[in-house]
Amino acid sequence: MIAIIDFGSQYTQLIARRIRELGVYAEIFPYSISKEELLNSSKENVEGIVFSGGPASVLDEDSPKVSLDFVKSFDVPILGICYGMQLLSYLNGGKLEKSLFREYGYTGLRIIEDSILFKGVPREIVVWMSHGDSVVIPPNNFRVTSVTENGIIASLENTNERIYLVQFHPEVYHTQYGKEILSNFVFGVCNATKGWSLERFMKEEEEIIKKKVGNKRVVMAVSGGVDSTVMAVYLSKILGTQLLPIFVNTGLLRLNEENEVIGNFRSLGIEVKYVDASDEFLFALKGVKDPEEKRKIIGKKFIEVFFREAGDIEILAQGTLYPDVIETSSVKGPSATIKTHHNRVAEIRKLEKEGKILEPFRFLFKDEIRALGRVLGVPERIINRHPFPGPGLAVRIMGEVTKEKLDILRKADYIFIEELRNDNLYEEVWQAFAVLMSDKAVGVMGDERSYGNVIAIRAVTSVDGMTADWARLPHEFLNRVANRIVREVPGVTRVVYDITSKPPATIEWE
Ligand code: XMP
Repeated sequence: MIAIIDFGSQYTQLIARRIRELGVYAEIFPYSISKEELLNSSKENVEGIVFSGGPASVLDEDSPKVSLDFVKSFDVPILGICYGMQLLSYLNGGKLEKSLFREYGYTGLRIIEDSILFKGVPREIVVWMSHGDSVVIPPNNFRVTSVTENGIIASLENTNERIYLVQFHPEVYHTQYGKEILSNFVFGVCNATKGWSLERFMKEEEEIIKKKVGNKRVVMAVSGGVDSTVMAVYLSKILGTQLLPIFVNTGLLRLNEENEVIGNFRSLGIEVKYVDASDEFLFALKGVKDPEEKRKIIGKKFIEVFFREAGDIEILAQGTLYPDVIETSSVKGPSATIKTHHNRVAEIRKLEKEGKILEPFRFLFKDEIRALGRVLGVPERIINRHPFPGPGLAVRIMGEVTKEKLDILRKADYIFIEELRNDNLYEEVWQAFAVLMSDKAVGVMGDERSYGNVIAIRAVTSVDGMTADWARLPHEFLNRVANRIVREVPGVTRVVYDITSKPPATIEWE
Protein backbone atom coordinates (compact mmCIF):
# COMPACT_ATOMS: atom_id res chain seq x y z
CA MET A 1 0.00 0.00 0.00
CA ILE A 2 0.88 3.67 -0.31
CA ALA A 3 0.71 5.64 2.93
CA ILE A 4 -0.46 9.22 2.63
CA ILE A 5 0.70 11.62 5.31
CA ASP A 6 -1.95 14.30 5.70
CA PHE A 7 -1.02 17.93 6.20
CA GLY A 8 -4.60 19.10 5.93
CA SER A 9 -5.14 19.63 2.21
CA GLN A 10 -8.68 19.62 0.92
CA TYR A 11 -7.38 17.21 -1.73
CA THR A 12 -5.81 14.59 0.56
CA GLN A 13 -8.71 12.18 0.14
CA LEU A 14 -8.49 12.54 -3.61
CA ILE A 15 -4.90 11.28 -3.51
CA ALA A 16 -6.07 8.11 -1.81
CA ARG A 17 -8.93 7.65 -4.23
CA ARG A 18 -6.75 8.12 -7.29
CA ILE A 19 -4.20 5.59 -6.05
CA ARG A 20 -6.92 3.06 -5.23
CA GLU A 21 -8.28 3.57 -8.74
CA LEU A 22 -4.86 2.44 -9.96
CA GLY A 23 -5.40 -0.84 -8.14
CA VAL A 24 -3.13 -0.11 -5.18
CA TYR A 25 -4.40 0.30 -1.65
CA ALA A 26 -3.85 3.74 -0.10
CA GLU A 27 -4.49 4.90 3.41
CA ILE A 28 -4.32 8.33 5.05
CA PHE A 29 -2.49 9.09 8.31
CA PRO A 30 -2.23 12.32 10.30
CA TYR A 31 1.22 13.93 10.09
CA SER A 32 1.58 13.56 13.87
CA ILE A 33 1.61 9.75 13.73
CA SER A 34 4.76 7.85 14.72
CA LYS A 35 6.32 5.28 12.43
CA GLU A 36 5.36 2.45 14.80
CA GLU A 37 1.75 3.59 15.01
CA LEU A 38 1.55 3.83 11.26
CA LEU A 39 2.96 0.38 10.67
CA ASN A 40 0.82 -1.17 13.42
CA SER A 41 -2.43 0.37 12.30
CA SER A 42 -2.31 -0.93 8.77
CA LYS A 43 -2.69 -4.47 7.56
CA GLU A 44 -0.67 -3.87 4.41
CA ASN A 45 3.00 -3.30 3.61
CA VAL A 46 4.08 0.29 2.99
CA GLU A 47 5.57 0.49 -0.51
CA GLY A 48 5.69 4.26 -0.83
CA ILE A 49 4.71 7.45 0.96
CA VAL A 50 2.95 10.57 -0.27
CA PHE A 51 3.17 13.83 1.64
CA SER A 52 -0.04 15.73 0.99
CA GLY A 53 -0.57 19.42 0.46
CA GLY A 54 -1.84 21.63 3.23
CA PRO A 55 -3.04 25.15 3.97
CA ALA A 56 -0.12 26.16 6.24
CA SER A 57 3.21 27.76 5.35
CA VAL A 58 6.37 25.80 6.11
CA LEU A 59 7.96 29.19 6.89
CA ASP A 60 5.63 29.62 9.88
CA GLU A 61 7.09 28.24 13.04
CA ASP A 62 3.98 26.43 14.19
CA SER A 63 3.12 24.81 10.87
CA PRO A 64 2.74 21.00 10.84
CA LYS A 65 6.10 19.33 10.38
CA VAL A 66 7.75 15.94 10.68
CA SER A 67 11.42 15.25 11.31
CA LEU A 68 13.91 14.23 8.65
CA ASP A 69 14.52 11.05 10.68
CA PHE A 70 10.87 10.15 10.33
CA VAL A 71 11.08 10.67 6.57
CA LYS A 72 14.23 8.60 6.18
CA SER A 73 13.27 5.80 8.55
CA PHE A 74 10.80 4.21 6.13
CA ASP A 75 13.33 3.59 3.40
CA VAL A 76 10.68 3.71 0.66
CA PRO A 77 10.15 6.22 -2.16
CA ILE A 78 8.46 9.49 -1.27
CA LEU A 79 6.29 11.84 -3.27
CA GLY A 80 5.74 15.34 -1.88
CA ILE A 81 2.81 17.32 -3.23
CA CYS A 82 2.53 21.13 -2.79
CA TYR A 83 3.03 21.68 0.97
CA GLY A 84 4.62 18.22 0.98
CA MET A 85 7.15 19.39 -1.61
CA GLN A 86 7.96 22.51 0.35
CA LEU A 87 8.35 20.66 3.63
CA LEU A 88 10.62 17.99 2.14
CA SER A 89 12.69 20.68 0.38
CA TYR A 90 13.00 22.58 3.64
CA LEU A 91 13.95 19.48 5.65
CA ASN A 92 16.65 18.67 3.11
CA GLY A 93 18.16 22.17 3.23
CA GLY A 94 16.40 23.91 0.34
CA LYS A 95 15.29 27.54 0.50
CA LEU A 96 11.66 28.64 0.41
CA GLU A 97 10.18 32.06 -0.12
CA LYS A 98 6.77 33.58 0.05
CA SER A 99 5.97 34.32 -3.59
CA LEU A 100 4.99 37.82 -4.61
CA PHE A 101 1.88 36.41 -6.17
CA ARG A 102 -0.09 33.29 -5.50
CA GLU A 103 -0.09 30.70 -8.24
CA TYR A 104 -3.65 29.49 -8.27
CA GLY A 105 -5.65 27.43 -10.74
CA TYR A 106 -4.75 26.29 -14.23
CA THR A 107 -1.05 26.89 -14.85
CA GLY A 108 1.18 26.02 -17.79
CA LEU A 109 4.06 23.68 -16.98
CA ARG A 110 7.16 22.86 -19.00
CA ILE A 111 9.19 19.74 -18.39
CA ILE A 112 12.89 20.62 -18.67
CA GLU A 113 14.57 17.36 -17.60
CA ASP A 114 13.62 13.75 -18.16
CA SER A 115 12.05 12.15 -15.14
CA ILE A 116 10.45 8.81 -14.49
CA LEU A 117 7.56 10.78 -13.02
CA PHE A 118 6.83 12.31 -16.44
CA LYS A 119 7.11 9.15 -18.51
CA GLY A 120 4.53 9.32 -21.31
CA VAL A 121 3.71 12.96 -20.49
CA PRO A 122 4.13 15.69 -23.16
CA ARG A 123 6.76 18.40 -22.50
CA GLU A 124 4.09 21.03 -21.97
CA ILE A 125 0.94 20.43 -19.97
CA VAL A 126 -1.54 22.36 -17.87
CA VAL A 127 -1.58 21.61 -14.16
CA TRP A 128 -3.60 22.72 -11.13
CA MET A 129 -1.72 24.94 -8.70
CA SER A 130 -2.63 26.35 -5.33
CA HIS A 131 0.28 27.77 -3.40
CA GLY A 132 1.73 30.94 -1.88
CA ASP A 133 5.25 29.76 -0.95
CA SER A 134 7.73 28.43 -3.50
CA VAL A 135 11.04 26.61 -3.47
CA VAL A 136 13.61 29.12 -4.73
CA ILE A 137 16.81 27.14 -4.10
CA PRO A 138 16.52 23.35 -4.31
CA PRO A 139 18.25 21.24 -1.66
CA ASN A 140 21.67 19.81 -2.56
CA ASN A 141 21.51 16.86 -4.89
CA PHE A 142 17.99 17.67 -6.05
CA ARG A 143 17.46 18.58 -9.67
CA VAL A 144 14.69 20.69 -11.13
CA THR A 145 12.65 18.73 -13.66
CA SER A 146 9.93 21.25 -14.55
CA VAL A 147 8.99 24.91 -14.21
CA THR A 148 5.75 26.83 -14.54
CA GLU A 149 4.92 29.52 -17.07
CA ASN A 150 5.69 31.98 -14.27
CA GLY A 151 9.20 30.63 -13.89
CA ILE A 152 8.50 28.90 -10.58
CA ILE A 153 10.04 25.51 -9.77
CA ALA A 154 7.26 22.97 -10.36
CA SER A 155 9.05 19.70 -9.63
CA LEU A 156 12.26 18.42 -8.09
CA GLU A 157 13.79 15.05 -7.51
CA ASN A 158 16.62 13.16 -5.91
CA THR A 159 16.61 9.75 -7.54
CA ASN A 160 19.28 8.31 -5.21
CA GLU A 161 17.14 9.02 -2.18
CA ARG A 162 13.99 8.28 -4.18
CA ILE A 163 12.37 11.59 -3.25
CA TYR A 164 10.07 13.17 -5.86
CA LEU A 165 8.49 16.55 -5.32
CA VAL A 166 5.75 18.33 -7.26
CA GLN A 167 4.38 21.79 -6.57
CA PHE A 168 1.16 21.10 -8.50
CA HIS A 169 -1.66 18.71 -7.64
CA PRO A 170 -1.56 15.56 -9.79
CA GLU A 171 -4.55 14.18 -7.85
CA VAL A 172 -7.11 16.72 -9.12
CA TYR A 173 -8.91 16.18 -12.40
CA HIS A 174 -7.81 19.58 -13.71
CA THR A 175 -4.17 18.48 -13.94
CA GLN A 176 -3.52 16.98 -17.36
CA TYR A 177 -1.81 13.60 -17.13
CA GLY A 178 -2.25 13.69 -13.35
CA LYS A 179 -3.22 10.04 -13.28
CA GLU A 180 -0.16 9.09 -15.35
CA ILE A 181 2.11 11.03 -13.01
CA LEU A 182 0.69 9.28 -9.95
CA SER A 183 0.86 5.97 -11.76
CA ASN A 184 4.52 6.61 -12.67
CA PHE A 185 5.24 7.18 -9.00
CA VAL A 186 3.24 4.22 -7.73
CA PHE A 187 4.44 1.66 -10.28
CA GLY A 188 7.54 3.20 -11.88
CA VAL A 189 9.19 4.40 -8.68
CA CYS A 190 7.63 2.38 -5.85
CA ASN A 191 7.16 -0.82 -7.81
CA ALA A 192 3.94 -1.23 -5.93
CA THR A 193 1.95 -4.38 -6.47
CA LYS A 194 -1.26 -3.97 -8.33
CA GLY A 195 -3.91 -6.20 -6.91
CA TRP A 196 -5.98 -4.20 -4.52
CA SER A 197 -9.60 -4.45 -5.38
CA LEU A 198 -12.70 -3.60 -3.50
CA GLU A 199 -13.97 -7.14 -3.76
CA ARG A 200 -10.79 -8.65 -2.38
CA PHE A 201 -10.67 -6.07 0.37
CA MET A 202 -14.24 -6.74 1.45
CA LYS A 203 -13.62 -10.48 1.30
CA GLU A 204 -10.78 -10.01 3.79
CA GLU A 205 -13.01 -7.79 5.89
CA GLU A 206 -15.49 -10.67 6.03
CA GLU A 207 -13.06 -12.77 8.06
CA ILE A 208 -12.53 -9.91 10.52
CA ILE A 209 -16.28 -9.50 10.89
CA LYS A 210 -16.96 -13.20 11.42
CA LYS A 211 -14.29 -13.38 14.06
CA LYS A 212 -15.54 -10.33 15.89
CA VAL A 213 -19.21 -11.29 15.75
CA GLY A 214 -19.03 -15.01 16.51
CA ASN A 215 -22.59 -15.99 17.31
CA LYS A 216 -23.64 -12.60 18.64
CA ARG A 217 -26.52 -10.58 17.30
CA VAL A 218 -25.71 -7.47 15.25
CA VAL A 219 -28.13 -4.57 15.11
CA MET A 220 -28.02 -1.64 12.76
CA ALA A 221 -30.19 1.29 11.76
CA VAL A 222 -31.29 1.45 8.15
CA SER A 223 -32.70 4.48 6.38
CA GLY A 224 -33.10 3.09 2.89
CA GLY A 225 -30.25 5.26 1.63
CA VAL A 226 -27.27 3.91 -0.25
CA ASP A 227 -24.88 3.41 2.66
CA SER A 228 -27.18 1.63 5.07
CA THR A 229 -28.75 -0.48 2.33
CA VAL A 230 -25.41 -1.66 0.96
CA MET A 231 -24.21 -2.36 4.49
CA ALA A 232 -27.31 -4.35 5.37
CA VAL A 233 -26.95 -6.45 2.21
CA TYR A 234 -23.23 -6.96 2.77
CA LEU A 235 -23.68 -7.95 6.42
CA SER A 236 -26.71 -10.13 5.84
CA LYS A 237 -24.75 -12.15 3.28
CA ILE A 238 -22.12 -12.80 5.96
CA LEU A 239 -24.29 -13.04 9.05
CA GLY A 240 -27.69 -14.19 7.81
CA THR A 241 -30.37 -13.87 10.45
CA GLN A 242 -27.86 -12.77 13.09
CA LEU A 243 -28.32 -9.32 11.57
CA LEU A 244 -31.21 -7.20 12.79
CA PRO A 245 -31.76 -4.05 10.70
CA ILE A 246 -34.07 -1.54 12.35
CA PHE A 247 -35.93 1.06 10.31
CA VAL A 248 -37.34 3.96 12.30
CA ASN A 249 -40.06 6.06 10.73
CA THR A 250 -39.46 9.50 12.22
CA GLY A 251 -42.57 10.91 10.60
CA LEU A 252 -40.19 13.16 8.70
CA LEU A 253 -39.90 10.93 5.66
CA ARG A 254 -41.03 11.67 2.13
CA LEU A 255 -44.30 10.59 0.54
CA ASN A 256 -44.78 6.84 0.89
CA GLU A 257 -41.09 6.43 1.71
CA GLU A 258 -41.60 3.91 4.51
CA ASN A 259 -43.41 1.44 2.26
CA GLU A 260 -40.86 1.90 -0.47
CA VAL A 261 -37.96 1.22 1.89
CA ILE A 262 -39.55 -1.86 3.45
CA GLY A 263 -40.38 -3.14 -0.05
CA ASN A 264 -36.84 -2.54 -1.27
CA PHE A 265 -35.39 -4.54 1.58
CA ARG A 266 -37.88 -7.32 1.09
CA SER A 267 -36.92 -7.64 -2.55
CA LEU A 268 -33.30 -7.90 -1.42
CA GLY A 269 -34.27 -10.75 0.88
CA ILE A 270 -33.92 -8.75 4.09
CA GLU A 271 -36.60 -8.37 6.73
CA VAL A 272 -36.26 -5.14 8.64
CA LYS A 273 -37.81 -4.37 11.98
CA TYR A 274 -40.12 -1.46 11.23
CA VAL A 275 -40.79 1.05 14.00
CA ASP A 276 -43.33 3.77 13.43
CA ALA A 277 -42.32 6.50 15.85
CA SER A 278 -43.77 9.40 13.89
CA ASP A 279 -46.14 10.57 16.63
CA GLU A 280 -43.33 10.58 19.17
CA PHE A 281 -41.11 12.71 16.96
CA LEU A 282 -43.84 15.16 16.05
CA PHE A 283 -44.80 15.53 19.69
CA ALA A 284 -41.20 16.24 20.65
CA LEU A 285 -40.96 18.87 17.91
CA LYS A 286 -44.13 20.70 18.90
CA GLY A 287 -43.58 24.45 19.11
CA VAL A 288 -39.87 24.21 18.25
CA LYS A 289 -38.71 26.68 15.64
CA ASP A 290 -34.94 26.91 15.99
CA PRO A 291 -33.13 24.77 13.37
CA GLU A 292 -30.33 23.54 15.65
CA GLU A 293 -32.86 22.81 18.37
CA LYS A 294 -34.91 20.75 15.92
CA ARG A 295 -31.83 18.79 14.87
CA LYS A 296 -30.89 18.12 18.50
CA ILE A 297 -34.36 16.90 19.41
CA ILE A 298 -34.52 14.60 16.41
CA GLY A 299 -31.04 13.18 17.03
CA LYS A 300 -31.83 12.53 20.68
CA LYS A 301 -35.20 11.00 19.93
CA PHE A 302 -33.69 8.78 17.30
CA ILE A 303 -31.16 7.38 19.74
CA GLU A 304 -33.86 6.88 22.36
CA VAL A 305 -36.18 5.01 19.97
CA PHE A 306 -33.40 3.01 18.37
CA PHE A 307 -31.90 1.82 21.64
CA ARG A 308 -35.31 0.99 23.04
CA GLU A 309 -36.13 -1.15 20.01
CA ALA A 310 -32.67 -2.73 19.78
CA GLY A 311 -32.79 -4.07 23.36
CA ASP A 312 -29.51 -5.28 24.77
CA ILE A 313 -26.96 -4.53 22.14
CA GLU A 314 -24.27 -7.13 21.64
CA ILE A 315 -22.86 -5.48 18.53
CA LEU A 316 -23.89 -2.33 16.71
CA ALA A 317 -22.95 -1.95 13.06
CA GLN A 318 -22.42 1.59 11.84
CA GLY A 319 -22.00 2.92 8.35
CA THR A 320 -19.03 5.11 9.14
CA LEU A 321 -17.19 5.95 5.93
CA TYR A 322 -13.52 6.72 5.44
CA PRO A 323 -14.02 10.50 5.13
CA ASP A 324 -15.64 10.50 8.62
CA VAL A 325 -12.69 8.58 10.01
CA ILE A 326 -10.19 10.98 8.50
CA GLU A 327 -12.22 13.95 9.62
CA THR A 328 -11.97 12.94 13.26
CA SER A 329 -8.27 12.10 13.24
CA SER A 330 -6.88 14.64 10.83
CA VAL A 331 -4.68 17.69 11.11
CA LYS A 332 -7.56 19.96 11.98
CA GLY A 333 -9.03 17.58 14.52
CA PRO A 334 -12.77 17.04 14.65
CA SER A 335 -14.24 19.57 12.30
CA ALA A 336 -16.11 22.36 13.98
CA THR A 337 -18.48 22.58 11.08
CA ILE A 338 -20.07 19.16 11.31
CA LYS A 339 -23.73 19.57 12.03
CA THR A 340 -24.99 17.88 15.18
CA HIS A 341 -24.91 14.32 14.09
CA HIS A 342 -26.27 11.34 15.93
CA ASN A 343 -23.34 8.97 15.62
CA ARG A 344 -21.11 10.66 18.17
CA VAL A 345 -23.40 10.50 21.16
CA ALA A 346 -22.56 9.10 24.61
CA GLU A 347 -24.50 5.85 24.12
CA ILE A 348 -22.43 5.02 21.07
CA ARG A 349 -19.15 6.11 22.59
CA LYS A 350 -19.90 3.72 25.44
CA LEU A 351 -20.40 0.81 23.04
CA GLU A 352 -17.21 1.85 21.32
CA LYS A 353 -15.28 1.58 24.58
CA GLU A 354 -16.73 -1.87 25.14
CA GLY A 355 -15.58 -2.94 21.67
CA LYS A 356 -19.14 -3.47 20.48
CA ILE A 357 -19.05 -1.32 17.36
CA LEU A 358 -18.61 -2.79 13.92
CA GLU A 359 -17.69 -0.42 11.08
CA PRO A 360 -17.21 -2.52 7.95
CA PHE A 361 -16.95 0.52 5.66
CA ARG A 362 -14.50 2.56 7.73
CA PHE A 363 -11.90 2.38 4.94
CA LEU A 364 -14.24 3.03 2.03
CA PHE A 365 -15.18 6.11 0.06
CA LYS A 366 -18.74 6.82 -1.05
CA ASP A 367 -18.12 5.83 -4.66
CA GLU A 368 -16.66 2.54 -3.41
CA ILE A 369 -19.87 1.88 -1.46
CA ARG A 370 -21.79 2.31 -4.71
CA ALA A 371 -19.41 -0.04 -6.51
CA LEU A 372 -19.79 -2.61 -3.74
CA GLY A 373 -23.57 -2.22 -3.91
CA ARG A 374 -23.49 -3.06 -7.60
CA VAL A 375 -21.40 -6.16 -6.95
CA LEU A 376 -23.94 -7.22 -4.30
CA GLY A 377 -26.86 -6.73 -6.66
CA VAL A 378 -28.40 -3.66 -5.08
CA PRO A 379 -30.66 -2.07 -7.75
CA GLU A 380 -29.42 1.07 -9.53
CA ARG A 381 -32.45 2.97 -8.33
CA ILE A 382 -31.23 2.64 -4.74
CA ILE A 383 -27.58 3.14 -5.60
CA ASN A 384 -28.36 6.39 -7.36
CA ARG A 385 -30.71 7.72 -4.72
CA HIS A 386 -30.03 11.31 -3.73
CA PRO A 387 -28.71 11.85 -0.21
CA PHE A 388 -31.41 12.57 2.34
CA PRO A 389 -30.54 14.19 5.67
CA GLY A 390 -31.10 12.30 8.93
CA PRO A 391 -33.45 14.99 10.31
CA GLY A 392 -35.47 14.56 7.13
CA LEU A 393 -38.17 16.99 6.15
CA ALA A 394 -37.80 18.82 9.47
CA VAL A 395 -34.88 20.81 8.06
CA ARG A 396 -36.90 21.55 4.93
CA ILE A 397 -39.80 23.11 6.79
CA MET A 398 -38.84 26.55 7.98
CA GLY A 399 -39.97 27.05 11.56
CA GLU A 400 -42.26 24.69 13.44
CA VAL A 401 -42.92 21.24 12.01
CA THR A 402 -46.58 20.24 11.88
CA LYS A 403 -48.53 17.44 10.23
CA GLU A 404 -50.22 19.91 7.86
CA LYS A 405 -46.93 21.38 6.73
CA LEU A 406 -45.43 17.94 6.28
CA ASP A 407 -48.35 17.01 4.06
CA ILE A 408 -47.90 20.04 1.85
CA LEU A 409 -44.14 19.58 1.56
CA ARG A 410 -44.46 15.86 0.80
CA LYS A 411 -46.79 16.45 -2.10
CA ALA A 412 -44.68 19.24 -3.58
CA ASP A 413 -41.47 17.26 -3.18
CA TYR A 414 -43.03 14.22 -4.78
CA ILE A 415 -44.10 16.18 -7.86
CA PHE A 416 -40.65 17.73 -8.27
CA ILE A 417 -38.86 14.38 -8.02
CA GLU A 418 -41.38 12.64 -10.25
CA GLU A 419 -40.88 15.26 -12.96
CA LEU A 420 -37.10 15.00 -12.62
CA ARG A 421 -37.34 11.26 -13.17
CA ASN A 422 -39.74 11.68 -16.09
CA ASP A 423 -37.31 13.99 -17.86
CA ASN A 424 -34.26 11.86 -17.02
CA LEU A 425 -32.87 14.70 -14.94
CA TYR A 426 -32.85 12.93 -11.58
CA GLU A 427 -29.42 11.42 -12.03
CA GLU A 428 -28.05 14.61 -13.56
CA VAL A 429 -28.25 16.36 -10.21
CA TRP A 430 -26.62 15.55 -6.89
CA GLN A 431 -29.67 16.35 -4.85
CA ALA A 432 -33.09 17.86 -5.41
CA PHE A 433 -35.91 18.65 -3.05
CA ALA A 434 -38.63 21.06 -2.05
CA VAL A 435 -38.62 23.39 0.94
CA LEU A 436 -41.62 24.96 2.67
CA MET A 437 -41.27 28.60 3.68
CA SER A 438 -42.66 29.92 6.96
CA ASP A 439 -44.20 33.06 5.47
CA LYS A 440 -47.07 33.22 3.08
CA ALA A 441 -47.38 35.03 -0.23
CA VAL A 442 -50.30 36.39 -2.10
CA GLY A 443 -51.83 34.72 -5.11
CA VAL A 444 -55.03 34.79 -7.12
CA MET A 445 -57.12 31.69 -7.02
CA GLY A 446 -60.16 32.00 -9.21
CA ASP A 447 -61.17 35.63 -8.82
CA GLU A 448 -59.93 36.05 -5.31
CA ARG A 449 -56.66 37.16 -3.87
CA SER A 450 -55.48 34.57 -1.40
CA TYR A 451 -52.54 34.10 0.90
CA GLY A 452 -50.89 30.76 0.51
CA ASN A 453 -47.70 28.85 1.14
CA VAL A 454 -44.45 29.35 -0.71
CA ILE A 455 -42.53 26.32 -1.89
CA ALA A 456 -38.88 26.67 -2.85
CA ILE A 457 -37.39 24.00 -5.04
CA ARG A 458 -33.70 23.34 -4.96
CA ALA A 459 -31.52 21.20 -7.19
CA VAL A 460 -27.75 21.20 -7.02
CA THR A 461 -24.85 19.61 -8.80
CA SER A 462 -21.92 18.50 -6.67
CA VAL A 463 -19.19 15.90 -6.44
CA ASP A 464 -19.16 15.33 -2.70
CA GLY A 465 -21.64 17.74 -1.13
CA MET A 466 -18.82 19.91 0.22
CA THR A 467 -19.33 22.48 -2.52
CA ALA A 468 -22.30 22.66 -4.83
CA ASP A 469 -23.70 24.67 -7.69
CA TRP A 470 -27.39 25.24 -8.40
CA ALA A 471 -28.52 23.08 -11.28
CA ARG A 472 -29.32 24.84 -14.53
CA LEU A 473 -32.61 23.04 -15.05
CA PRO A 474 -34.48 23.93 -18.26
CA HIS A 475 -36.99 26.77 -17.85
CA GLU A 476 -39.71 24.72 -19.48
CA PHE A 477 -39.13 21.99 -16.94
CA LEU A 478 -39.25 24.43 -14.01
CA ASN A 479 -42.38 25.93 -15.45
CA ARG A 480 -44.09 22.55 -15.54
CA VAL A 481 -43.06 21.73 -11.96
CA ALA A 482 -44.29 25.08 -10.67
CA ASN A 483 -47.63 24.73 -12.45
CA ARG A 484 -48.17 21.24 -11.15
CA ILE A 485 -47.29 22.15 -7.57
CA VAL A 486 -49.62 25.15 -7.48
CA ARG A 487 -52.39 23.20 -9.15
CA GLU A 488 -52.07 19.94 -7.26
CA VAL A 489 -50.99 20.94 -3.77
CA PRO A 490 -53.75 22.73 -1.88
CA GLY A 491 -52.55 25.78 0.00
CA VAL A 492 -49.55 26.54 -2.20
CA THR A 493 -49.73 29.75 -4.21
CA ARG A 494 -46.15 30.31 -5.20
CA VAL A 495 -43.04 28.35 -6.24
CA VAL A 496 -39.52 29.79 -6.33
CA TYR A 497 -36.27 28.25 -7.52
CA ASP A 498 -33.17 28.54 -5.33
CA ILE A 499 -30.21 29.87 -7.36
CA THR A 500 -27.54 30.08 -4.67
CA SER A 501 -24.43 27.95 -4.67
CA LYS A 502 -22.57 26.40 -1.74
CA PRO A 503 -20.67 28.31 -0.50
CA PRO A 504 -21.96 30.80 0.50
CA ALA A 505 -25.27 28.96 1.02
CA THR A 506 -25.56 25.36 2.20
CA ILE A 507 -27.47 22.69 0.32
CA GLU A 508 -30.18 22.35 2.95
CA TRP A 509 -32.06 25.41 4.13
CA GLU A 510 -31.67 24.78 7.84
P1 XMP B 1 -25.40 21.15 3.74
O1 XMP B 1 -26.78 21.62 3.98
O2 XMP B 1 -24.55 21.17 4.96
O3 XMP B 1 -25.54 19.62 3.31
O4 XMP B 1 -24.74 21.85 2.58
C1 XMP B 1 -24.53 18.84 2.76
C2 XMP B 1 -25.07 17.45 2.58
O5 XMP B 1 -25.31 16.85 3.86
C3 XMP B 1 -26.68 16.52 4.01
N1 XMP B 1 -27.05 16.84 5.39
C4 XMP B 1 -27.23 15.93 6.36
N2 XMP B 1 -27.16 14.60 6.36
N3 XMP B 1 -27.73 14.56 8.64
C5 XMP B 1 -27.44 13.91 7.49
O6 XMP B 1 -27.41 12.69 7.48
C6 XMP B 1 -27.82 15.89 8.73
O7 XMP B 1 -28.09 16.43 9.79
C7 XMP B 1 -27.56 16.61 7.53
N4 XMP B 1 -27.55 17.94 7.22
C8 XMP B 1 -27.23 18.04 5.91
C9 XMP B 1 -27.42 17.35 2.98
O8 XMP B 1 -28.64 16.75 2.60
C10 XMP B 1 -26.41 17.41 1.86
O9 XMP B 1 -26.43 16.25 1.07
